[in-house]
Amino acid sequence: MRMVVPYFQKFPPRMFKSSYNLVTNKVFRFRKTNLTKTIYRAICFEPNSLREGLLCRVKTPSIDSFDKVTIVGAGMVGVACANAILFQKISSHVAIVDAFPKKLEGEGMDYCHSSVFLDDPYVEYDTDFCVSSNSKVVIITAGARQIKGETRLELVQKNVNIIKNIVPPLVQYSPNAVFLVVTNPVDILSWVTWKVSGLPYNRIIGSGCHLDSARLRSLISERLGVASKCVNAFIIGEHGDNQVPLWSGVNVAGVLFRDIMPTIGLEMDQEGWSELITDNVKAGATVRCLKGYSNTAIGLTAADITRDILRNCPAVKSVSTMIQGHHGIHHEMFLSLPCTLGENGVSQVIRMRITEHEKNLFQKSAEIVYNIQKGLKIS
Ligand SMILES: NC(=O)c1ccc[n+]([C@@H]2O[C@H](COP(=O)([O-])OP(=O)(O)OC[C@H]3O[C@@H](n4cnc5c(N)ncnc54)[C@H](O)[C@@H]3O)[C@@H](O)[C@H]2O)c1
Repeated sequence: MRMVVPYFQKFPPRMFKSSYNLVTNKVFRFRKTNLTKTIYRAICFEPNSLREGLLCRVKTPSIDSFDKVTIVGAGMVGVACANAILFQKISSHVAIVDAFPKKLEGEGMDYCHSSVFLDDPYVEYDTDFCVSSNSKVVIITAGARQIKGETRLELVQKNVNIIKNIVPPLVQYSPNAVFLVVTNPVDILSWVTWKVSGLPYNRIIGSGCHLDSARLRSLISERLGVASKCVNAFIIGEHGDNQVPLWSGVNVAGVLFRDIMPTIGLEMDQEGWSELITDNVKAGATVRCLKGYSNTAIGLTAADITRDILRNCPAVKSVSTMIQGHHGIHHEMFLSLPCTLGENGVSQVIRMRITEHEKNLFQKSAEIVYNIQKGLKIS
């Protein structure tokens, strides 16, 4: 890791000596006081340390970076986000904040030992939010983890309180950042983040159904033997039990599945494609049941969104955003819809041509989330 240690400026020795002599044309005798020792060392270039002997400073190294990302929460998901960002070199400056200093120190040391392999990123960590200052993207993963049998929505009150405490100082230190919410229930917490931050809603993004869409693409690719990247499929609505697959648009190379099988994804679909959605809904819980937590895929999901923001790339992703006015929703709330991203967060919402059945499912998803959201106390 790069370290920022202040050190005294030394001119290149020959240049310093000759110019000094040219100007003064005198020979000095030095008494060995501390001050004269320092001047003598500067003129004769006697280094105080190996560092000074090796490095001739031209300008103080800058520690400001154009791609700083802060990750709040150094748990399984936070570390997976940091890994995905650092391993793919999406950012060269990552700050990590958590409530537990020992955990932070351990993670910090681990990254330090990895610096040779990661092109020396600058990794900072602290329990104090000041470490997050001037971030371009702030990723929120702090929160209570979903426990067995608990739905995402049951987690809500615990995590609302955490968001209420952490967002105001984060905004204060990085007033121009885009906030990416990962903590569950991600749709409600994105809305809470927007409310308590005072920022325009485009600057708040929930990771939402970008992960669910990726999972569905991989399940379809397994059935077809086609690379998952080549399967185009979007899930919209709630990240969770009430996610809405847009079967009407699923395609490979522009060939719509619905043109081949008009009933795909519906109850009367004889090939059981709708079972993929049952598996998709259970995917997170299944991973948690098997390994105790789910982190790799969500880490890569958050890194993918972060890349688009930092590079100002208008890629289209199904992320949680303000959906008021879309597909018959009148409430102020966040759910996933395909959006273009960029340095300002969400730039545009795609006007999806969805079927009446898909619209009904989306509205049902919104109703379930809103019924929980409206009972929350966030002030
Ligand atoms: N959106 C998704 O697709 C998705 C996927 C997986 C997990 N998650 C969610 O991510 C969250 C984190 O999961 P995890 O497995 O990393 O949990 P974890 O328990 O391993 O880590 C949570 C971390 O948050 C920290 N934390 C809690 N309160 C804090 C505060 N006020 N300030 C700073 N740090 C604080 C804890 O110290 C802990 O290190 C959960 O809400 C989980 O449901 C979301």
